[in-house]
Amino acid sequence: MNIVVTGGAGFIGANFVYYELNNHPEDRIICIDSLTYAGNLSSLEEALKNPNFRFIKADITDKAAVEKMFEEEHPDIVINFAAESHVDRSVEDPGLFLRTNILGTQTLMDACRKYGIKRYHQVSTDEVYGDLPLDRPDLFFHEDTPIHTSSPYSASKASADLLVLAYARTFKLPVSITRCSNNYGPYHFPEKLIPLMISRALADESLPVYGTGENVRDWLYVEDHCAAIDLVARKGREGEVYNVGGHNERTNLEVVKTILRQLGKPESLITYVKDRPGHDQRYAIDPTKIHTELGWLPKTTFDEGIKRTIQWYLDNEKWWKDILAGDYQNYYEKMYGNRGNA
Ligand code: NAD
Ligand code: DAU
Repeated sequence: MNIVVTGGAGFIGANFVYYELNNHPEDRIICIDSLTYAGNLSSLEEALKNPNFRFIKADITDKAAVEKMFEEEHPDIVINFAAESHVDRSVEDPGLFLRTNILGTQTLMDACRKYGIKRYHQVSTDEVYGDLPLDRPDLFFHEDTPIHTSSPYSASKASADLLVLAYARTFKLPVSITRCSNNYGPYHFPEKLIPLMISRALADESLPVYGTGENVRDWLYVEDHCAAIDLVARKGREGEVYNVGGHNERTNLEVVKTILRQLGKPESLITYVKDRPGHDQRYAIDPTKIHTELGWLPKTTFDEGIKRTIQWYLDNEKWWKDILAGDYQNYYEKMYGNRGNA
């Protein structure tokens, strides 16, 4: 089969490219990525040596480029990872998020309609459900939990999900959607909580925790997410949404303290900074549907995954130090420079 992976030079997309090349060597993987600040070709260095892999630098909102790829590659499955993915950036520049996350999804699905497809799979997020209160640990996100978004990022992802389901009903496009909780692992861009804290702790720099650090995220090792997407895109029921998560809830403070402990760094590096506007309190996924229908279960516990992740950042310093040496310096100054303390 020919499988198109959009956003394959980003964090989860790159991990997915390797997951496919390793687990389905009979398939051809075509990656489309416009290489925004978050896209990194060096993450695909090994894949680029594989004759079953092709990289195309293109924007998913560029209809002509997307159609050219369809004419050349005749994809069987399109899996859409490409997105603006950072909540804090969406507060600064919502328009970019609407363009890529909504119009990009439309452009890809229009090409799928025009040329035909076996499956269009949308990689979505648990953030479309909004958040859960901290004092109700009995509550979880189910697939029928109402959409209730908080940030321009989550609103753009929810809009895309609605569009995907509308194309399924109106045009009979064979689609599926996965909504996953927070991922972590190799190739994670150091603006996100875990890689940011690892890279700053290694440099003995302050660790900016938003608000009180009590917000809860439900962490999933990225390879487990890749396995779930692979299963749903190939075997999931058409028109269905599947939640993906592994019941690994941690407060942000617990995560940061775990990283400090494992690196042998002092907790005095923690600095409480002004909270994120609209900050979601708690995410927690109920993955019963994907487990009962497709047999998916996560393989990696948080304790194991965080050790592996820290080791990856220790072994791959060049990957993240090159990022930190570029435009990222301006980003950090802009987002955290005048933030003030909590
Ligand atoms: P990322 O920001 O690391 O990577 C995004 C990739 O998309 C980059 O390579 C970037 O260059 C590319 N891209 C951006 N705009 C593009 C455009 N217009 N055309 C082509 N390529 C473009 O993101 P990620 O964390 O790997 O997330 C991937 C997907 O998974 C996103 O759709 C995100 O909403 C979803 N998701 C992420 C998480 C998480 O914890 N990171 C959890 C659940 C769902
Ligand atoms: O739940 C899935 C989502 O997880 C994905 O859809 C998003 O693409 C992905 O970025 C992630 O969103 P979050 O906002 O949860 O991730 P982030 O790493 O930005 O933040 C995790 C938590 O840590 C959140 O409560 C905010 C907090 N935080 C984050 C940063 C960057 C801090 O306290 N300090 C920070 O410097």
